[in-house]
Amino acid sequence: MRMRELKNATDLKGKRVLVRIDANVPIKSGRAQDSPNGRIARSAVGLNWLLQRGARVIVMTHLGSPNGKHIPAYSVKPIAKRLSSLLGIRVKLARTVVGDDVVKAVKVLQDGEILLLENVRFDAREKENSPSFAQSLARLGDLYVNDAFAVSHRAHASIDAITSELPSYAGPLLSNEVSVLSKLEKSSKRPFVLVLGGLKMTTKIPIIERYISQLDFVLVGGALANAFFVAQGKTVGSSAFEQESIAPARRLLERFADKIILPEDVVIASSLRRDAKCKVGTPDLIVGKQRVVDIGPKTIKRFVEVLAHAKTIVWNGPLGYCEVATFCTGTREVARAIGARTGRALTIVGGGDTLPVIESLGLADKFTLLSTGGGALLQFLSGEPLPGVEALKT
Ligand code: 3PG
Repeated sequence: MRMRELKNATDLKGKRVLVRIDANVPIKSGRAQDSPNGRIARSAVGLNWLLQRGARVIVMTHLGSPNGKHIPAYSVKPIAKRLSSLLGIRVKLARTVVGDDVVKAVKVLQDGEILLLENVRFDAREKENSPSFAQSLARLGDLYVNDAFAVSHRAHASIDAITSELPSYAGPLLSNEVSVLSKLEKSSKRPFVLVLGGLKMTTKIPIIERYISQLDFVLVGGALANAFFVAQGKTVGSSAFEQESIAPARRLLERFADKIILPEDVVIASSLRRDAKCKVGTPDLIVGKQRVVDIGPKTIKRFVEVLAHAKTIVWNGPLGYCEVATFCTGTREVARAIGARTGRALTIVGGGDTLPVIESLGLADKFTLLSTGGGALLQFLSGEPLPGVEALKT
């Protein structure tokens, strides 16, 4: 897939470059929760590249879903702070997304300076992919850069409509994610292993179906495995699972039983508290309100053995209840097993839930791609076009 890439843009000095990033991270006590490999940190690389070339950088992002209203709790102020500390220069903050104040703020922007616009979703026209909103944004820049893979599955004005208004480019983060993910389509080396956890089945079925002929194994854990247990007629007590996942799980088992590996043992806890009483065994041991909180040691051993030979690995979703460290053993061991394939396998991990685990183990640089995308990654892997990427194709 070929896109117009920012690295090929010349003469950036003095140019007003409008950059869309995805800085949608949790905000706690006025601080953006962003780790060294988080969305904002990784967006800062492309912004810094532009600033070093003397561009006047105008940044756009969304934060949450304020539904077209200016809600202070969704202000991007904490993002400006995080970017300032990453870039080592003051990131100015506009009070609105478009309008006279913003036009003035852009006019006084000097080469190598950076301005962050308020949350693009404060304007209802963003989600409507409105041409008039895109035009108002476009007036602020000479060229447009999409460096927001994580929101490129949305046909929104700052992602899609704007590309009809300005010369448009893919930023380095977007280019890299698309380029690594595209390798899967072209040549996924075997054995190809898909590791799936988390809760939602519906978004993952299309991925299994799309790659099933190339896939050797699908390793299932987390709440997703519970839906498979229920589909097999097992009781899961108070374990988390999605009701609507049961029928698809049953169908997948009927069609691809030889490739799907479910946990042969699990950790069963009396509650989700860290001091909960635990036992290990098959799901048949669950009584009353007990619940599955992790995959068990035999399952870990089996998963690790499969991963040790894999040449292509795609992983999405935790395999246990990682909010409690003791229930995260399976996820950690799988992270280590995938990390150990560095240099010998194409390894792709997505979804914010597993990133803290990977970082805490010091494995962040061991993966071919730590995707910033949640929904965008699943959509891309499902083979559905992403409007933001389509708009930049040459
Ligand atoms: C995400 O967090 O996956 C992206 O920022 C997209 O956000 P959205 O689901 O609110 O469009």
